[in-house]
Amino acid sequence: MAGQQEIKQKIEDLRAEINRHNYLYHVQDNPEISDAEYDRLMRELKVLEEKYPQFLTPDSPTQRVGAAPLEAFGVVEHPLPLLSLGNAFSDDELMAWYKRTLKLVGERPFDFVGEYKIDGLAVALTYVDGQLTTGATRGDGLRGENITQNLRTIRSIPLSVPKDAPPRFELRGEVYLSKKGFQKLNRERGEEGLSLFANPRNAAAGSVRQLDSRITARRPLDIYIYMLGYAEGRPVPPTHWETMEWLKTLGFKINPKNRQLDSIEKVIEYYRELEKERESLPYEADGIVVKINQLNLHEELGDIGREPRWAIAYKFPATQATTKLNDIGINVGRTGTLNPYAILEPVAVGGVTIKNAALHNEDDIRRKDIRIGDTVIIQRAGEVIPEVVGPVKSKRTGKEKEFNLLDKIFNKEKGRPACPECGGEVIKPEGEVMYYCSNAACPAQAQQRIEHFASRGAMDIRGVGENISAMLFDKGLAKNVAELYKLKDKKEQLVEIEKMGEKSMENMLQAIETSKARPLARLIFALGIRHVGEEMAEILANEFHSIDGLARASREKLMDVSTIGPKIADSIIAFFREEDNKNIIQELKDADVKAAKTEETAATPKHLPFSGQEFVVTGRLETFTRQQAEAKIKELGGTARDNVTRKTDFVVYGDEPGSKLTRAKELGIKPLNEKEFLELLKKAKV
Ligand code: IVH
Repeated sequence: MAGQQEIKQKIEDLRAEINRHNYLYHVQDNPEISDAEYDRLMRELKVLEEKYPQFLTPDSPTQRVGAAPLEAFGVVEHPLPLLSLGNAFSDDELMAWYKRTLKLVGERPFDFVGEYKIDGLAVALTYVDGQLTTGATRGDGLRGENITQNLRTIRSIPLSVPKDAPPRFELRGEVYLSKKGFQKLNRERGEEGLSLFANPRNAAAGSVRQLDSRITARRPLDIYIYMLGYAEGRPVPPTHWETMEWLKTLGFKINPKNRQLDSIEKVIEYYRELEKERESLPYEADGIVVKINQLNLHEELGDIGREPRWAIAYKFPATQATTKLNDIGINVGRTGTLNPYAILEPVAVGGVTIKNAALHNEDDIRRKDIRIGDTVIIQRAGEVIPEVVGPVKSKRTGKEKEFNLLDKIFNKEKGRPACPECGGEVIKPEGEVMYYCSNAACPAQAQQRIEHFASRGAMDIRGVGENISAMLFDKGLAKNVAELYKLKDKKEQLVEIEKMGEKSMENMLQAIETSKARPLARLIFALGIRHVGEEMAEILANEFHSIDGLARASREKLMDVSTIGPKIADSIIAFFREEDNKNIIQELKDADVKAAKTEETAATPKHLPFSGQEFVVTGRLETFTRQQAEAKIKELGGTARDNVTRKTDFVVYGDEPGSKLTRAKELGIKPLNEKEFLELLKKAKV
């Protein structure tokens, strides 16, 4: 048997490792290992701590939930802690929980409620006098982050409730992003060269913890309420099931898959049933939660550590598999990114054969130490593109080869690395993780640009998908996006295209005509400017009102917009400087594409008290968060900026204002303390 000292060391190592993964997962939203691996580490630690209680310490990760709140948000103290759940991984473990419960409950009858365990993030919503007053993350269970402003953007969260609701109550629920929403977000992030979210959970967490709630508002977040925290001033139903039914009547979204189950056998049947349909669910679920229905028993059973005795999570098996990484291929993306992908020995994961998987970029491959020839763990979640989680190092033979992207694309004839599609020169902009083909005329890019232009979130031209855009491009009928609008004069050539009947051609031409009326934001997105996704396009449309306005904007002017950094600004400038792009925009104007033509597409804003005034909010305010203060400013017609410039009219400052206040004083701009700002708001409202 290992010595006490060694066991202690092992426990400490496990704790350090778990803490590191906790941080990566909860604070950075960027985990390195799969949830299944994390669960395995936690179990290993729990088993050791149970066996050697002398080494159990209160700061062990088994004794707490989540990670400390980010300071950028205000802190919310949870009046009742947000608990975590114990896990069962087999029928036996579930039965063991059931037997323990039976022993404690004795003769009294009880039943269960089964629910999906949705993989999102837990939030607590507080309603006072019928209004949503606070929305918070779980944080460490006792203190969470104040994300009210962001949660208010989720449409399925009622902002107010009927009069008969208790005067004060708190609900808990899971905020999540659908699998589709997640895929779309990652696709865009990939195209913009941003790091990808590992899974929908991280994407939801990342979205909810945006400092700019306008970004949250554009993400398709949703919520299911799964528990009443507390309610004051009104009696509440005696069971969990009835509570959920009652909450439905107050307007809350409760998962229709929830079910009342009257025996543990029924619970197991329910688990089997949900596990089967899990793949086809629109959201990610990693198991079921089994809850005792009788609320009086909840109180009586109480908690053990940070886990209630009255509930347990019965986890689904992970959809992971191992296989051999035969090679790493490269494809060229729409914006010229050279994307590495895994070429795998085909393997079945959750009933589907997988041959390829995502490998995001060279840095990621290196960080995970993935080598060609490795046995790798791959993971598939719903319809999401499968990804390589990491190598199984113990299976190495020594013959595995490290991957080097530049070697892979080395072109012997040219004596340098070259784009595998067009032979163009390859660049890697400073500070970016992706390599790019720098040839603006690269056919792989040009064809994908047409496909992107016509895609759903862009100009939404039905009938111009991957195949048709490739064909149009290959046959020389549309060499660029503007030429789509000239297709109506090429009907004869079009009908000659394989598979295109007269009817579908007419439909396509009609869809192309209709797309001329799409709003500016969609056109900006459709142009395929590097680093400009759907969200950014909307911000640009709101700020600059026309294509010409955007094309004219200086680097400084662009960077005045709070969400635009130098990378995006430079990319926009480079795009509009390119002759080819200037010509395309002119051709779009000639073709009568509305958003390309009009100088002012935005409606003239109403005159409001702060119209034309620029504000910068800095430091910590007492009455509001910065976002709330900025929202007030915008409500009254003002503009909120991140940086103090000569054009700033007011700098509103709180505690620890930092350099922005100094800069304001240097420029002779009037600083407003919180009290003065509140007075200004009051005046503006009358
Ligand atoms: S009940 C005290 N029900 O799972 C029991 N949790 O590990 C609190 N979750 O933090 C949880 N779906 O974020 C409950 N139907 C559901 C759930 C659910 C997802 C999450 C929740 C919680 C975590 C527990």
